[in-house]
Amino acid sequence: MEFSIKQGSPEKQRSACVVVGVFENGKLSNAAQALDKAAKHHLSDLIARGDMHGKAASTLLLHKIPGIAAERVLLVGLGKPEEMNSKTSIDILRATFRALQDTPAKDAVLYCTDDGMGSDAGWVVKQTVLAATEAAYRADSLKSKPAKPATLKELTLATLDKPGAGLKSTLEQAAAIAHGMQLTKDLGNLPGNICTPTYLAAQALALGKKHKAIKTTVLEEKDMQKLGMGSFLSVTRGSEQPAKLITMEYAGADKKQKPVVLVGKGVTFDSGGISLKPGAEMDEMKYDMCGAASVLGTMQAIAEMGLKLNVVGVIPTCENLPSGRATKPGDIVTSMSGQTIEILNTDAEGRLILCDALTYSAKFKPDTVIDIATLTGACVIALGHVASGLFSNQDDLARDLLGAGEQAYDRAWQLPLWEDYQPLLDSNFADMQNIGGRAGGTITAACFLSRFTKDYRWAHLDIAGTAWKSGKEKGATGRPVPLLTQYLINRAHGSK
Ligand code: BES
Ligand code: MN
Ligand code: ZN
Repeated sequence: MEFSIKQGSPEKQRSACVVVGVFENGKLSNAAQALDKAAKHHLSDLIARGDMHGKAASTLLLHKIPGIAAERVLLVGLGKPEEMNSKTSIDILRATFRALQDTPAKDAVLYCTDDGMGSDAGWVVKQTVLAATEAAYRADSLKSKPAKPATLKELTLATLDKPGAGLKSTLEQAAAIAHGMQLTKDLGNLPGNICTPTYLAAQALALGKKHKAIKTTVLEEKDMQKLGMGSFLSVTRGSEQPAKLITMEYAGADKKQKPVVLVGKGVTFDSGGISLKPGAEMDEMKYDMCGAASVLGTMQAIAEMGLKLNVVGVIPTCENLPSGRATKPGDIVTSMSGQTIEILNTDAEGRLILCDALTYSAKFKPDTVIDIATLTGACVIALGHVASGLFSNQDDLARDLLGAGEQAYDRAWQLPLWEDYQPLLDSNFADMQNIGGRAGGTITAACFLSRFTKDYRWAHLDIAGTAWKSGKEKGATGRPVPLLTQYLINRAHGSK
């Protein structure tokens, strides 16, 4: 979809559809007032008659209104002004694009920044672009007859007054984030037989080809062997697909600036290994590479917006399958850090591939390392599908990430990384075991990772509940690309 911003009178827009808001108290937004005047009170009459009540996220489509140049007018309910908040704004935008996608309109002009949808026009612009892209998203690349493609191709965000300085670059940023989310969703939704570790590596190499600022390298199993990544390699033993360690270095700032390193879990299918998972919904474990996909999506977004920051993406990727060669419960492996691990459950594999990738990440002399992983089912139980779980060994880093999540409406919630939990990982035979029991499963997983991240500022995002939806709307969400990108934008603009 193409996006643009311009100033203009709503009644004069020669468009397939002009979109304006009306409040629940019958008050028209400024743009709706202008339309109403040009249409000789057609809209206020209709509201007085009760055809449009203005309830938040309700819509009414009108055709060929005298005095209005656009072919259609879409009235969107804004609800009560005093009840407007981030969630209602987003609900309203989603309803708007659902309604627009139901019409044959190929282009639309939307007045959203003048009407009480939050005081921050930049925020509204961003959320509008994300909602529009979301509504147009289709996951049908593998259907023999693809679903009807989205009709809306061009969206103009219009303002009555001159658009504020910087709104244009906000729009470009938003489009880049939307494209990044699209890549993340596409990769997440692909099945394990297509999206293999080799496929992810090819995607990363393609990203490096497309953007001069990104340099991609891929390490093979023999390279990892030399580096001593016994933990990572233990997970891929049961698979016929070769594991890969992908790095993407984005150079957006002076060479001397220390990078932010993003490490994404890339298990392209997690059967549990010898500790086999139950069969029900096992297909959803194709999403176990959504951390990796969000790193790819974020790298693409920052490259597209030309962000002035150095960022490295690191992706350990493999399958977790049972076989005669697979790692067994009780096996003890040596990680790249030299610490030994007793693998009591082969289904706790994410931490086993991440710990070596985290040790490896020190080579980039990072300012900050953030790992992103669909790490624990316990996180879904704790936080549901709303917030990602956040851990950090530095409170200021946690604060910055929580803040970026609020700004982007892609929120996280901090959980404790207290020493008191560490003894749960004690092993009789090795330096640690890879599980800490059922209690506090999300926390003990983070505690495990913390043993490999002592030398730098580090945060961990558990996205098991937020990276995809189950049920009828099954599919990847593109999260936490908005959070990560917002964090990096804030860093690049110096508001750490
Ligand atoms: N990929 C899973 C985590 C997961 C489970 C994400 C369900 C989303 C939904 C991870 O590898 C895993 O299997 N974790 C185990 C850990 C346990 C064995 C300590 C889990 O959460 O059950
Ligand atoms: Mn697992
Ligand atoms: Zn997993």
